[in-house]
Amino acid sequence: MKIEIVKNNVVLVNPSNENFEIHPLWLRERAKTESLVDKYSDQRLYDPSQLDQNIKIKKASMNNGHLNIEFTDGVKFEYEVNNLLYEINKKEPAENIILWDSNLTKNPTVVFKENIFEKQVMYDVLQDFYKYGFVIFKNVPVEENYIVNFANSIGTIRPTNFGESFSVKSIPQPNDLAYTSMALTPHTDNPYRKPIPCIQLLHCLENEVKGGFSTLVDGFSVSEYLRKNHKDLFKILTKTKVRFRFVDKTIILENWGELIELDENNSVKQVRYSTRLDYVPALERKELETFYEARKLISELYASSKFEIKFKLEKGDLLMMDNHRLLHGRTSYNVSEGKRYLKGCYIDHDSTEGKLRYLERKFGLKWKK
Ligand SMILES: [Fe+2]
Repeated sequence: MKIEIVKNNVVLVNPSNENFEIHPLWLRERAKTESLVDKYSDQRLYDPSQLDQNIKIKKASMNNGHLNIEFTDGVKFEYEVNNLLYEINKKEPAENIILWDSNLTKNPTVVFKENIFEKQVMYDVLQDFYKYGFVIFKNVPVEENYIVNFANSIGTIRPTNFGESFSVKSIPQPNDLAYTSMALTPHTDNPYRKPIPCIQLLHCLENEVKGGFSTLVDGFSVSEYLRKNHKDLFKILTKTKVRFRFVDKTIILENWGELIELDENNSVKQVRYSTRLDYVPALERKELETFYEARKLISELYASSKFEIKFKLEKGDLLMMDNHRLLHGRTSYNVSEGKRYLKGCYIDHDSTEGKLRYLERKFGLKWKK
């Protein structure tokens, strides 16, 4: 893909598509002279909707990767062609994903170092996070609330009804089964919240028990398997909005959503799954029969050895996982064998994406394909 000047027009030459003229107003909006854009905030100092809609290019020339344009309103600006192409080609982080199943040979892992959040390695870690939906940091300092510093070094903590952070250990009379030693089947967290927390961080402070293995499943991978092999069942899971509900002494939280949510391009956008909390609406009998068949199948797939990976979080490990894509669970453990203690919290996707773009700018990197 490249940019050329053809008869005073700026044209995008695209080998895989038809060439097209880049609209002069689109270019004019991107002119960044000192009188047009604040040099500190990079924000426009004018309202582009007030520009002449019929603005034209008076003069255009290309020199050494720079595009010089003079517009009919008198504004002149020199563009870097690479920046224009970058904006046109740019992919969002979530477009670079790699679907995986239990054949995943190596978990994406990085050894934690002080100040890692400002280093280039963090860029690669976040890339891996978007590719695989999770990443494991090793040797994170084993301090009670270190996870709060950790989360706030990437973005901002999203508090929930469980607090700013929460302690995953077995306690008497818990308000959630996470706080027991029971096995937890694969699930996504808090599907009853609006909005649903995006990324979960789990920091292992103690894990002395023989059981208590962590499990992960790529929900997008299972969804694509269903789309390919069970079209009707896939369809009903993408069309049926299920009610998820959480109740405790002081709050009742509810939200509706599909077990597999698609975006406008029919790509999988988010999965929701929590057998402890889901209530399907009273649909017509035939439709419900299909839904129940689909839910049974997806439940089996989520729990199957074809899709599930299982590993033990060691003391100092911090698991960062995408709660819109991955399901997580754990095997049961015996509290009499020793301590198992994890601290958890949530952050938003725009925290990690924002960090990724910041590191990209800081180290002069371009988005990797
Ligand atoms: Fe959970």
